[in-house]
Amino acid sequence: MVKILVIYYSLEGNTQLIAENIAKTVNADVLRLVPEKDIKSTGGRRFFWGGKQVVMKEKPVLKPFDKNPLEYDLLFIGTPVWAWSFTPALRSFFSEVKLQGKKIAIFCTHSGGMRKTLANIKNKLAGNEILGEIDFIDPLKNPATHVSKAMEWARNLITLI
Ligand SMILES: Cc1cc2nc3c(=O)[nH]c(=O)nc-3n(C[C@H](O)[C@H](O)[C@H](O)COP(=O)(O)O)c2cc1C
Repeated sequence: MVKILVIYYSLEGNTQLIAENIAKTVNADVLRLVPEKDIKSTGGRRFFWGGKQVVMKEKPVLKPFDKNPLEYDLLFIGTPVWAWSFTPALRSFFSEVKLQGKKIAIFCTHSGGMRKTLANIKNKLAGNEILGEIDFIDPLKNPATHVSKAMEWARNLITLI
């Protein structure tokens, strides 16, 4: 049986909504990336602190993983967009886990300004096969639509393996 893992970071729940529904659809395990010390999820200052971490290419220390990504055949990797790119937690993940020869699908959630986020993620995943990519704009504002979009994407994607 193909082993599938959904790996994601989420501060405010949007990426979590998508990740959990993908996992349910394709019967995957889930690994949530959680920094030991995260920024606060409320207040306008989170944009400043989060954006600064992205610009400075910071790699926050993550809580220990309870799943080993290297044991899986297909990985879904998801992140919110921060400062037009992927989140610091994902940067930490990429530096901790050297993925090679995996089948990977990537997704992000954002508020309308993702710019090159997906391309930046793909740069970090050289040596792997990218099976698909998708983005979602503010999923929590319209959960039903976004969840069905995510489920359909995931269902189609696993027909490729
Ligand atoms: C620090 C920070 C920076 C952000 N930068 C962007 C951005 O550059 N472009 C954008 O479209 N949305 C940006 N957003 C909005 C988030 O990408 C969006 O709300 C996302 O769905 C949040 O995912 P989450 O709920 O899983 O944390 C930013 C949010 C935060 C907290």
